Formats: sequence, structure tokens, C-alpha cells
Amino acid sequence: MTLIKLPSLLDPHVHIRDLAQSHKEDWDSGTAAALAGGYTCLLAMPNTTPPVTDTAALTQYQQAARSRARCDYGLYLGASDTNIETAASLAPQSCGLKMYLDQTFGPLRMEDLGSLMAHMQHWPADKPLCVHAEGRTVAAAILVAQLTGRAVHICHVSRKDEIELIHAAKDRGLDVTCEVTPHHLFLTAASPSPVGASSTGEGRGGGYREVRPRLATESDRLALWQHMAAIDCFATDHAPHTQSEKESGNPPPGFPGLETALALLLGAVHDGRLTLDDITLRMHTNVKRIFNLPDQPDAHVEIDPDLEWTVRAEELHTRCQWSPWEGQTLKGRVVRTVLRGQVACEYGKVLAQPGTGRDISNQQSTI
Ligand code: NCD
Ligand code: ZN
Repeated sequence: MTLIKLPSLLDPHVHIRDLAQSHKEDWDSGTAAALAGGYTCLLAMPNTTPPVTDTAALTQYQQAARSRARCDYGLYLGASDTNIETAASLAPQSCGLKMYLDQTFGPLRMEDLGSLMAHMQHWPADKPLCVHAEGRTVAAAILVAQLTGRAVHICHVSRKDEIELIHAAKDRGLDVTCEVTPHHLFLTAASPSPVGASSTGEGRGGGYREVRPRLATESDRLALWQHMAAIDCFATDHAPHTQSEKESGNPPPGFPGLETALALLLGAVHDGRLTLDDITLRMHTNVKRIFNLPDQPDAHVEIDPDLEWTVRAEELHTRCQWSPWEGQTLKGRVVRTVLRGQVACEYGKVLAQPGTGRDISNQQSTI
């Protein structure tokens, strides 16, 4: 067995839920999943209940995270049509601003071009600003960021025309970065499995396939690989919903991903499509730089690149208890995740306790 030591993983796009949606995930279960997946820091999205758009909600989430998180974290603020000044004033306590320009789970959706421009003008230039943008809204976000003289990060890019546009913008020197999820790199709308398939290979219904952005075409998927040079980060967009919710008549979109991301990408290393350096660049170095994350002393992940394991939902730490990769045998496993010199997780057993994680942006907590 050859163990490889890598810098620990950092995920800029995770949905932790908690509070009114603790049945899907909370800070305890979500950060246990993160450590099991090799992550020591995650940035949590604001499309929660209540949404993180004001001081009261931010304070509630700071308290929940402080008492339950097992790894380090940051909290995003959500942009709305009415919180332009409030969001900017709370910026020092958050890891970034998230703007939802297209439809997805939760109430945070901005329709108004004026709000987009106002947030881009008011949000501090030295703090990350991320957008959920699909198709034409990618172009809108890049243009308004350029006009307001600030950087913008495009979340979960999934389509050929989007990655081509971003690549062209980067070639012109525009200040745009982007992330791609493992599910958009490995799955399409036509994939017969693993999404929607049970361990016996039988379909489990369309709700399990629902995710935003939607799984795309093979040509879109191949374009992401062709434009790998333009992809700054791999982000999981870990978005847990329970099995009964996914099987309901109105299934919410989202896949869990924290515990499978690294193994899937190590599969691409085995296939010769990526190198370990490509992984470290997009799951550590670039995330740290783009999101201004502080050093985590004595943090690393040890992997066994050859260890094969089969994804079994009941062995995962995420509370949602299912995986799009259920029953798949993946090659490459996290053996140990180390944070602040302590073994936080070993062979899937999480040792770090709730409440030991730190807020990476707690210069002036509201608590
Ligand atoms: C996310 C969720 O469930 O919060 N769902 C998803 O399909 N990705 C929201 C999002 O990131 O769009
Ligand atoms: Zn998301």
C-alpha cells in the first residue's frame, strides 16, 4: 500500500442546511461528511431556511456552526433585491456573497438587472462574489463585473457554451474564475446509471436525477474536459435532500457529493485524464487563493490511490443517506484527514468533535 500525502481539500460550494432543514443535513453531519471526503474547510451556501440575507439569520447560522462544525468553514451571505447595503455591511463576517440569477432550490433568486449591478458595486472588491448563472446570465455576470471593476466567480459551470465564454473571457484577461462539479464532469442527462439506479440496477425514479444546473449533453460534458485549463476549482455543490423528498411528486434538485468527489477525480488520474497536481490545484491551491482562505496549520489528507471501495449510502456520513454513485466501485480512498495536527478522520471514522471547527471569517462575529 502506497499512501500519498496531499494538501487537505477545500470546498467553496456546500449546502449544509441545519436549523429548519436539519433533517437533510446539519453542521455535525455535513462536516463529518467533509472530513471523510478529505476536506478540512468548506464554504456554506446561504439558500437555507431562513436564508442568510440579514444579521439575524447570519447570527443564527454562526451559532449553529460554532456549536456543531467538526471542520473549518465560512458562511456566504445571500444577495436579494432588497439587502444591498445590509449585505455589504456584513461582508467582514462572511466568506463571500452568493447571487442566484437562475432558478434553483430555495427562495433566493434575483430577477432584477439593477440589483445585480448594485450588489456588484457595493460588495467589497476584496471579498469573493459568486454567481449561480446559466446560459445568458453567465455573460451578464461577467460583463457587469467587468464594468464595476471587480472579480466574479461562476459556480458549477455545466455547458459547452458557458465554458467557451469563460475561457474566451479569461484569454482577454477578464477577472473571472469558475468551478465545475464532479457530477457534471462524469454524468450526462442520458447516463443510464448511476443516477436514479439502485444497487440492484433498477431505476429509482426521476427525482434522484434532479440537480441544478441540470445534467447536460455528452457534448457539454466533453467540452468541460477540453477546457480543463479554464476550470479553476472542483466544487462538490454538495446539496443533500432526503430519499422521500427525492421520491416525492415535487423533488428538490441536488446531489450529495462530499464523500465521493476525490475518489471520482482519482479515477480520472488512473485513466490518465488528470494528474494529482491538477487535483491539488483545483481542490486546494486555487480555492485558497480565489476565496482568500487562511492557512490551516498542520492540515493534510492521506490517500491510498489504489484502494477500491464500493459506495454504500448507509456507510456515508451525510444525513440524506443516498448517493448518485450508490453501488459504484471507485478506485482511490481517503485514509486520513488531518487538521491542526490531529487525525480528524481515519478510514471513514470521524474523530474530530462537533464544535472544533473554526469560522475562517470571524474577525468580528455578531455573537
Ligand atoms: C442546490 C440546493 O439544493 O441547495 N441544488 C442543486 O441542485 N445544486 C442549490 C444550487 O446550488 O443550485
Ligand atoms: Zn449549490
